Amino acid sequence: MRRTVFPCLAILISFVSLSAAHLQAQSSEQAAVPANAPYKNAALPVEKRVADLLSRMTLEEKATMLSGSGWMESAPIARLGIPAIKMADGPTGVRSWAGSSAITNSSSNPVKVETTSFPSGVAMASTWDMDLVQREGQAIGQEVKSLGRDMILGPTVNINRVPLWGRNFEGYGEDPYLAAQLGVAYIRGVQGEGVIPSVKHFAANNEEYERHRVNATIDERTLHEIYLPAFKAAVQEADVWTVMSAYNKVNSVHCGESMYLLSDVLKKEFGFKGFVISDWGSTYSTAPTVNAGMGLEMPGGSPMKAWMERPATKEAGNSDGWLVPEKVLAEVKAGNITEAAINDNVGRILRVIFVSGIFDYPHTALGDVDTPAQQAVARQAGTEGIVLLKNAGSLLPLDAAKVHSIAVIGPNAAVARTGGGGSSLVRPKYAIAPLDGIRKRAGNRMQVTTALGVGMDGEDQAQDTPEARAKLLKEATDAASKADVAVVVVGRYFKNEGEGFDVKTMDLPAGQDELVAAVENANPHTVVVLNTGDPVTMTKWIEKTPALLDMWYDGQEGGNALASILFGDANPSGKLPVSLPKKFEDSPAATNYPGKNLEVSYAEGIYVGYRYYDTKSIEPQFPFGFGLSYTTFEYSGLKVTPENAEGDQPIEVNLKVRNTGTRAGAEVVELYVHDGHSKIDRPVHELKAFSRVELKPGEVKTVQLKLNRAAFSYWSPEAKTWVAEPGTFEIQVGSSSRDIRLRAPFDLTH
Ligand code: BGC
Repeated sequence: MRRTVFPCLAILISFVSLSAAHLQAQSSEQAAVPANAPYKNAALPVEKRVADLLSRMTLEEKATMLSGSGWMESAPIARLGIPAIKMADGPTGVRSWAGSSAITNSSSNPVKVETTSFPSGVAMASTWDMDLVQREGQAIGQEVKSLGRDMILGPTVNINRVPLWGRNFEGYGEDPYLAAQLGVAYIRGVQGEGVIPSVKHFAANNEEYERHRVNATIDERTLHEIYLPAFKAAVQEADVWTVMSAYNKVNSVHCGESMYLLSDVLKKEFGFKGFVISDWGSTYSTAPTVNAGMGLEMPGGSPMKAWMERPATKEAGNSDGWLVPEKVLAEVKAGNITEAAINDNVGRILRVIFVSGIFDYPHTALGDVDTPAQQAVARQAGTEGIVLLKNAGSLLPLDAAKVHSIAVIGPNAAVARTGGGGSSLVRPKYAIAPLDGIRKRAGNRMQVTTALGVGMDGEDQAQDTPEARAKLLKEATDAASKADVAVVVVGRYFKNEGEGFDVKTMDLPAGQDELVAAVENANPHTVVVLNTGDPVTMTKWIEKTPALLDMWYDGQEGGNALASILFGDANPSGKLPVSLPKKFEDSPAATNYPGKNLEVSYAEGIYVGYRYYDTKSIEPQFPFGFGLSYTTFEYSGLKVTPENAEGDQPIEVNLKVRNTGTRAGAEVVELYVHDGHSKIDRPVHELKAFSRVELKPGEVKTVQLKLNRAAFSYWSPEAKTWVAEPGTFEIQVGSSSRDIRLRAPFDLTH
């Protein structure tokens, strides 16, 4: 065997160097491109431009475009004026792009990029505000352009299947309809600026545990009803320009080479016209990957090679360099890849280069980032994303006439924890911690004291000794007992919640439960604030907690946003985009996570989140869609028009919402459909529409929601399509999945 290896290697090496030299020679030999070549004409239809440009490219040039030229750039073809697509990580802002991931993750990377840090995806989802998410996408698109980049790697629309997924904070929660709507809004905002988004990670990247090797076994109905809708909407409603494939395997095939996912579902079923980009190091073969429809393998060039040489990269299971021209051309020669397959993949990249405008109007790094307007979006989003979960005795908003001192306590009080860890963490120019925001808002009218209470697990060993812990806890309870109100901010941070690893337990990090309980004992006027992306166990203290807010990772304006909620300058309007279970064992996938021997079965099927809790009557700590306000809302007058419909007839649902309190506020009205007559097993109800409505005190507004046949359908694996069974459905409208205020029947006649 040994003897044959070396000659093979030698042949390969000479082939590689030969083909690289050949490639260079060939492209310089190519005829000059006329200035009036049709593809250069911005007035021509995109399809014509793509066809013309493709016809002028050599096979070698096309092959070159299938892999990146650097860490965050695609390969340019100078001869034809094809630009590199210059990328940056998202989705919560623009992250540095220079170097490998070890470098882009460091706090002192070679290109100092400081941009607006928007709230995490789960915080954005808590706003249920499509317009706001679109404005976030737009602001991020503007920042991308201002920095001379072309593409932002977001939004993340993977579903929160398990409370422990390390990247839950990046996504839009547990419901496919909500995730789809918000993903569409983000994409529209980005693409409206001529910037290329990448909806990710396709598909079913729902745990970080062994993300390169794990095989998710998911039935077709579950895939279509839970894990694919956000991608489908991105394609069909937002005409998204790129989709990023996921690291993991789905039904035994790596996503990056899955003919089923990339070709059958994405391209044929959904009608995707853009290109597929691999997640970084998520390709594992040459011909199967190209043939499945992978357009662009990332990263590439020397940064990729340097990255692959790192033992940590290999240990993590990253695999790379499969679509370099040498390998692709060898497979073409061997008859394993057709030029037609390459044309399709490259044609799609060219199409995006044209439709996005970057061919005709290259982005120049001439704009500003973190402008007041962008900061204002981050502030509004930070505020709307905060969810008021409990407010016993109306402790909130704080009454300035009665509150003269506040103790701000906890490991997340004085440090701004703007986001979870990994590729989404951006470096802002400034970040407001809860303590900063409260101090600023309190001014000199109130005394603000602070105490750490407990060190953040793993952050500083000196705080971890029994003596240090006892001292910190005592300082906290002393501060709490001396103040009129205590605000205790707990949660996680980017090192114990982030990409590449899952959170170990739903419990708060070490010592934090004890801190909350001790502060609550010391001061009955305690506001607990959660600053974390994943659900946390609250059973040790929640009964006693008078007021509870979830601020998630709230971006650079988080502290100001929190202060405005605490002091009543803003009225909380956030609603949970994810159920918060009482304990991990209650969650639907608890017994099927993280899997055994790298196999994870999605045996809970479509019963994800409230579909599970509400159908199986398992009481969560706080249900999906829940969130309190400082005012109250009354729902009335539900009317479904028409009451009987057939086929694809659009259906209008109208109702009235009145603000019955004394403060202006916003209510998110949620519409669920209940199918009581189905032949097959269906969840007790599913979210199919929502609307956020702002109301002054006493004001009444008519809320109009729209439904179509899709709202009544399930995916039939037998029929391989969506099926709506004629019969009577119930339209449920409410304030959370467990607070249905109005119900009306609706007949689907056929
Ligand atoms: C992440 C992607 C990210 C990419 C580039 C990967 O590890 O999964 O979401 O866009 O790196 O940084």
